[in-house]
Amino acid sequence: MTAASVRPVVWADQSERFTTTPALGDDALRHVTATRYVAPLREGGSLPGLVEADDDGLYVMKFRGAGQGPAALVAEVVGGELARALGLLVPELVVAELEPELARAEPDVEIQELADASAGANLGVDFLPGALPFTPAAGGAVPPELAAELVWFDTLVMNVDRTPRNPNLLVWHGRTWLIDHGAAFYRQHGEAPLADSARAGFPLIREHVLLGRAGALAQADRRLAPVAQQAIESVVARVPDVWLGPDPLARRADFAAFLDGRLRAPRTFVSEAEAARREVDHG
Ligand SMILES: Nc1ncnc2c1ncn2[C@@H]1O[C@H](COP(=O)(O)OP(=O)(O)OP(=O)(O)O)[C@@H](O)[C@H]1O
Ligand SMILES: [Mg+2]
Repeated sequence: MTAASVRPVVWADQSERFTTTPALGDDALRHVTATRYVAPLREGGSLPGLVEADDDGLYVMKFRGAGQGPAALVAEVVGGELARALGLLVPELVVAELEPELARAEPDVEIQELADASAGANLGVDFLPGALPFTPAAGGAVPPELAAELVWFDTLVMNVDRTPRNPNLLVWHGRTWLIDHGAAFYRQHGEAPLADSARAGFPLIREHVLLGRAGALAQADRRLAPVAQQAIESVVARVPDVWLGPDPLARRADFAAFLDGRLRAPRTFVSEAEAARREVDHG
């Protein structure tokens, strides 16, 4: 998959999104090598940096050595690639190799240490130049059907980071893009296997930035559930081994079993999100 093949070619309205996101093939994430550290992105809690790579692209680098470690990058890939498979807009994700020497000129000691702890494979997120942060006030650009799909998706992957304070949505060329899935699948940080929580509730969906704009979830569920189910294997296969610990096969299987268990009918996560949606004031 080349960078060009995943860039949107249609700029008009969000309803055309299904034709502009690449079909999910069996291909692994592309690999690039960072050639220049441009600047830190001060907005991000994990201190992501903007880097240039050997394909001349600019990427937001999310460091393996940051707070939550490689598990956050696993969540980024499984969450981001699953969203893409569903037809939602996600910037291309690549594996970005880093030599810590690149960040030597950066005066911030914290960033130097982060780069030192992140030699090798990190996550690169295609940089969307000039993208604006989504604000709830400007949320009119997100139609109820799309809002419902985002609520459905974020409940499925238990993404705690789509709140009004931190929506992790970017508006680029008039369309809404999803970023930052590092805090999805948050129960992976517990002692038990992630799959044990497949049928657990997700009350934090009440904090979702688009809950008040979402239409009924039944239609989103009908469209998305079969696509998600079919995408599970190829999505988990995209996570690089090096972020998966001593038993990559078992970790991938755990993520797959979590998604599979959540998607099995009756889908309690959908009824939970629908109940939360009805509770909020749609005025
Ligand atoms: N692909 C991108 N194109 C343009 N800007 C981006 C992109 N990815 C991230 N940004 C900008 O960088 C900020 C931080 O990125 P991101 O949310 O991924 O990092 P984070 O450290 O996980 O953040 P936090 O935990 O604070 O939400 C975003 O809010 C956005 O402003
Ligand atoms: Mg963020």
